[in-house]
Amino acid sequence: GEGIVIAIDGPSGSGKSSTAKGVARARELRYLDTGAMYRAMTWWMIQHQVDVADAAAVAARSAEPVITMGTDPEAPTVRVDGTDVARAIRTDEVTGRVSTVSAVPEVRERLVALQRDIIAEARRDAAGIVVEGRDITTVVAPEAPVRLYLTASAQARAVRRSKENRTSDVAATEAALALRDRLDSSRALSPLTQAEDSLELDSSGLSLDEVVALVVKLADEAA
Ligand code: C5P
Repeated sequence: GEGIVIAIDGPSGSGKSSTAKGVARARELRYLDTGAMYRAMTWWMIQHQVDVADAAAVAARSAEPVITMGTDPEAPTVRVDGTDVARAIRTDEVTGRVSTVSAVPEVRERLVALQRDIIAEARRDAAGIVVEGRDITTVVAPEAPVRLYLTASAQARAVRRSKENRTSDVAATEAALALRDRLDSSRALSPLTQAEDSLELDSSGLSLDEVVALVVKLADEAA
């Protein structure tokens, strides 16, 4: 049969990546971090001195970078033109510009097509795939049998992200997350929004293991 698709959307720092990876490991599924693809595109634009505020310039060059994703949840990889950019795409410079790049229609068109190819391959060759991002439940895989909107309070998200980034400035982290969420939720094309028929899961009071266990149960019921 065909592999299952588990789609997870939500704002920055809601725990999507840890949850998606945990579920993929638990059920031996592939794992796709679509945010890493928008970050990789942004990294390439910066490397090539493209002014990311110039949407026409970004659009004109959006077909150039070759972005390759490794979907093993134990060791996910992201490459641009063969270069491993796993660390390079997590800098403040990339994080500060990614929402601008991801709002460009040509960028989304290209990356969504790539994401659908990766999903189709996983459904053919593996037990399935867990895909996380902002528009997976609404645009990339609206037909997925498990569709989740993962949230957490602004405070809980900022505390988590501060720990990941090893910074003690939770207030500044919360402000940066709020700005990115506002940009991602207000763009014209495929904004971050909860699909009507997706399940909202607030992880504020839950441990990662509890959230993973919940999603695994939903996946088992859907399979
Ligand atoms: O998930 P992460 O925070 O790494 O995503 C980085 C950025 O990529 C988001 O802030 C958003 O602008 C963009 N993104 C998107 N659509 C997705 C995933 C990420 O626009 N499916």
